[in-house]
Parts: sequence; C-alpha cells; structure tokens
Amino acid sequence: MALERTLCIIKPDAVRAGNIGNIIAHIQKEGFRILALRMTSLTQKSAGKFYEVHRGRPFYEGLVEFMSGGACVPIALEKENAIAEWRRVIGATDPAEAAAGTIRKLYAKNKGENAVHGSDSVENGLREIAFFFTEAELAELGA
Ligand code: RTP
Ligand code: MG
Repeated sequence: MALERTLCIIKPDAVRAGNIGNIIAHIQKEGFRILALRMTSLTQKSAGKFYEVHRGRPFYEGLVEFMSGGACVPIALEKENAIAEWRRVIGATDPAEAAAGTIRKLYAKNKGENAVHGSDSVENGLREIAFFFTEAELAELGA
C-alpha cells in the first residue's frame, strides 16, 4: 500500500440537492486527508477539457453540459490506497448498480448525474488535482 492522492468532485446535482456536507462527512468518516477544496463552476470549455478522455463517447456532450451547468466542489484527497479506496466509497458509476451505503447509492440520481467524481488511476489523480489546485495550495494547508 502506498500513500496516494485522488480528486473528488462533488458534482452539480449533489451541490443543488444540498449534499455537500453529507458527502464531506463520508470523506472524513473514511479517514481521507483533505489537502484542498473550493467551490467553483466549470465553463463548457474547461469541463470538456477535464473529461477529454471521453470525447467522442455517446454521453460526452451531455456530460459536459451537466458538469458546466452549476457549481461544483473539487476536493483533493490523500490516503493510503486513495484511488481504490475512494472508488469503493463512491460506488459504481450507475447508482442502480452501486453497493448499499455508497455515496452514489445514497445521493445520485442516475448514471449521468451521479453526485461525485473519483480519479481512476494514480497518474490521472495527480493530473486532475493539478487541473484545480496549484502546488502551493496543496502544500500549504491540509486537514
Ligand atoms: P467519474 O469519472 O465521474 O468518477 O465516473 P466513473 O469513472 O465512474 O465513470 P466514467 O466511465 O469515467 O464516466 C464519466 C462520467 O460520465 C458520465 N456518464 N454517463 N449516461 C451514461 O451512460 C454515462 N456514462 C458515463 C457519468 O457522470 C460518469 O461519472
Ligand atoms: Mg472516470
């Protein structure tokens, strides 16, 4: 096991539904260290860039529309085995298939509007964290 970083984004559906606090409570209960967080909103251009790997997939346009359609809360997290651990806590992409007690089971509406993001590899986690936070922001704080 290694100390890893992952990027959580509380997506616009969960912000709108008033679930920021509930989701942060899961993060803290599960023992993740919060390195940095903020509330922001993505433009269509920045949402498109963030999800660049999915360009061309049938859900890409809708995903960009959804992710740029309201405030979101990116959160840089650190924990032993953080990539797999955070994906365990959030559950399957489609809430209908997510395990009981997972964030997506509890708070997501459907496969497209699914409450939270989680990085899928150590490399992508670092890249995604750098998309939202500077090295200085990550180094200075943390709780
Ligand atoms: P994420 O990247 O947001 O953590 O989600 P994930 O790894 O579980 O799923 P991924 O395959 O990377 O898909 C990224 C996001 O695109 C939307 N999506 N919609 N309607 C659909 O069939 C569909 N498939 C994917 C979801 O918002 C998904 O989280
Ligand atoms: Mg993904």
